[in-house]
Amino acid sequence: MIRQLTIIGVGLIGGSLARALRAAGAVQEVVGCGRGLANLERALELGVIDRFSQDVGQAVVGADMVLVAVPPGAMEGVFRSMRGHLAQDAVITDVGSTKGSVVEDARRAFGAVPARFVPGHPIAGTESSGVEASFAELYRERRVILTPLPETDPQALARVSEMWRQCGATVTEMEVAHHDEVLAATSHLPHMLAFSLVDALARMKENDEIFRYAAGGFRDFTRIASSNPVMWRDICIANRQALGEMLKRFADELHDLADALNRGDGEQLLAIFERAKAARDRYVDRA
Ligand SMILES: NC(=O)c1ccc[n+]([C@@H]2O[C@H](COP(=O)([O-])OP(=O)(O)OC[C@H]3O[C@@H](n4cnc5c(N)ncnc54)[C@H](OP(=O)(O)O)[C@@H]3O)[C@@H](O)[C@H]2O)c1
Repeated sequence: MIRQLTIIGVGLIGGSLARALRAAGAVQEVVGCGRGLANLERALELGVIDRFSQDVGQAVVGADMVLVAVPPGAMEGVFRSMRGHLAQDAVITDVGSTKGSVVEDARRAFGAVPARFVPGHPIAGTESSGVEASFAELYRERRVILTPLPETDPQALARVSEMWRQCGATVTEMEVAHHDEVLAATSHLPHMLAFSLVDALARMKENDEIFRYAAGGFRDFTRIASSNPVMWRDICIANRQALGEMLKRFADELHDLADALNRGDGEQLLAIFERAKAARDRYVDRA
């Protein structure tokens, strides 16, 4: 049982964790923290948190579990603000979509990565943001990746794993750099493609007409371009090395596709489409 969970950033991800732990009866008190008063007051009204503070230092006082759920670009500042206010037994964890950058943020802010800091990333989300978008079932039957370091305290790791399992998630562990490569391919690259496709079309003269006739496939493919731009700027910059490599591989693939198209090489197009269909049918839907 968590005695006091402090959530810095009571948005979709932080708010959903609070709701899920409450539904599981796994937390006694939830304290929220953020910059905007309206979101925190709404979180209180919705019963997601019990009280709040806009000051990170005050919010973490007395917490035995601290969840940092702010955009990646705000992590270091939040870590710095909690220095000197944490209880001896407090476990800190985060939900940032990139892990190398968060570990470096913690190292810079605390001088060394604290043994009771457990980096984490729930593979669950939607394109909506803010506490209003949060819901208790978000993590059910979803994966959560934890990326402990050699110096991570095993008891802290066990407590964070247990917290996510109580939300209905399956917890797996990965090395930090491997996490960032995998997520660059499966999440960060698709977001970049969706944003850039919609932007390219929106900047065409006939964009009104293009969007008027955009139906199922376009909607499916571009849904994630409605995600929070500030968050995704932060994620792309934070994981720029792994993402840059993925983007280059994909640009080469696009180049080959364009060549095949220009040559009228239907065989090559068919080979690419068939390989892609087989891979998606085999892995994605089953996952
Ligand atoms: N959305 C997804 O699909 C998804 C999935 C997995 C992981 N994540 C990760 O989860 C984290 C949160 O994402 P989210 O989707 O929950 O975003 P969100 O709904 O926009 O929530 C972020 C919250 O952080 C607060 N915040 C921003 N800067 C802050 C600061 N400097 N100090 C204190 N609070 C601050 C915001 O409130 P104020 O603006 O009022 O401060 C907001 O309530 C990110 O690190 C993201 O990488 C997201």
